[in-house]
Amino acid sequence: MRMLDIILKKRNGGELTSDEIDFFVHEYVAGRIPDYQASALLMAIYFQGMTSRETADLTLAMAYSGETVDLSPVPGIKVDKHSTGGVGDTTTLIVAPLVAACGVPVAKMSGRGLGHTGGTIDKLESIPGFNPFQSIRDFIRIVKEVGVAVVGQTESLVPADKKLYALRDVTGTVEHKSLIASSVMSKKIAAGADAIVLDVKAGSGAFMRSVEDAFELAQEMVNVGVYVGRRVAAIVSDMSQPLGMAIGNALEVREAIEVLRGERSEALKEVSLLLGAYMLYVAGRCQTVEQGLEMVEEALASGRGAQKLKEMISAQGGDERVVDDTSLLPVADEVISIRAQRDGYISGMDAYSIGQAARLLGAGRNTKEDAIDHGVGIVLHKRVGDKVEKGEMLAEFYVNREDALQEAIDTFNKGVIIGEQPPQHKPLVYGVVTHEGIERW
Ligand code: URA
Ligand code: CA
Repeated sequence: MRMLDIILKKRNGGELTSDEIDFFVHEYVAGRIPDYQASALLMAIYFQGMTSRETADLTLAMAYSGETVDLSPVPGIKVDKHSTGGVGDTTTLIVAPLVAACGVPVAKMSGRGLGHTGGTIDKLESIPGFNPFQSIRDFIRIVKEVGVAVVGQTESLVPADKKLYALRDVTGTVEHKSLIASSVMSKKIAAGADAIVLDVKAGSGAFMRSVEDAFELAQEMVNVGVYVGRRVAAIVSDMSQPLGMAIGNALEVREAIEVLRGERSEALKEVSLLLGAYMLYVAGRCQTVEQGLEMVEEALASGRGAQKLKEMISAQGGDERVVDDTSLLPVADEVISIRAQRDGYISGMDAYSIGQAARLLGAGRNTKEDAIDHGVGIVLHKRVGDKVEKGEMLAEFYVNREDALQEAIDTFNKGVIIGEQPPQHKPLVYGVVTHEGIERW
């Protein structure tokens, strides 16, 4: 087999065989296909697309390109969740302990964030002592003993994605649904869970800006699940404004804890409970999603979810007292109020701009090597649709460094639109895709 023939076939609109896809992934990971040929194939895929079968074959070839996790020592159906990424999106910290408290083991591997704010791993690292980097053996042991673990993806997992994602990043081939689906699903499959719930974001803060594109990506990922025999449900949710009120690592952990303690009832809680309900549903723990919702609501109201988070933090070396006392989390030296410049209604809180503002404060990375400042970020006081008066507080900035502060404030203000009229209501969740098809709400 020759790489050139594979490139030509895809360039001309052909369908690649399983063997051709295996050859490409295997030889590329082994260093026997140069980056320029891999780049050419990625670009050909970008323009010609892939069938569901090709996407599933690519996913499997990638998933088995390195080490995989065998969760069979843990009894029952293990469930994982994944969000395609957003701003102020701390659902994992809420939903993983809630689902575990309902008796379904949650085994989650997570990446670090590149972009506006940290990923789940960075957020968890703001908890004093918490160690997200567990060996696969300890990962399995903690899931078995506690019912939930959230760990960083190990180096040996899915090397094909590490190499291909780095190449896509510099060749303009990230934003393709089949490539995103195979990248995400290969990691989920390698991490071993039997059932997977995806939260596909649509809006300015997400990979998929339009709702239609988000549904198509969700469908691609569910198709892969069907093909490889794992139960997958994907909700499509709004990311035109940040999901939670906090954007920044320790600030998001604090907000997640407040949700688990029953102290908050905003969009973040609503989406978290829905994801939890679907996790119980795909794991076969309930007959209907409505039953699942009742179960996670009970786990939250009874405090069993908060208790489970404590157990997970403690099992991973962290100080579990943060769940009772969030002042143990790192916090920036200075808090600055950002105020409305006019009267009106908030008609836009652009997730992308607000994420960028938080990154400028030090909450996210510019390059992989950058350090994150866990205590900084933004706490919103308003959401889209709220009425504001001139001078009223829109947000608080948690600041340690002044150097990019003005730029952060300008970026934030550009993203917050205040109009004369209340904006049209936007749904928080647009629908769900399962093996049974698309359901639009
Ligand atoms: N997240 C991933 O893990 N992979 C992609 O390709 C895009 C987002
Ligand atoms: Ca509070």
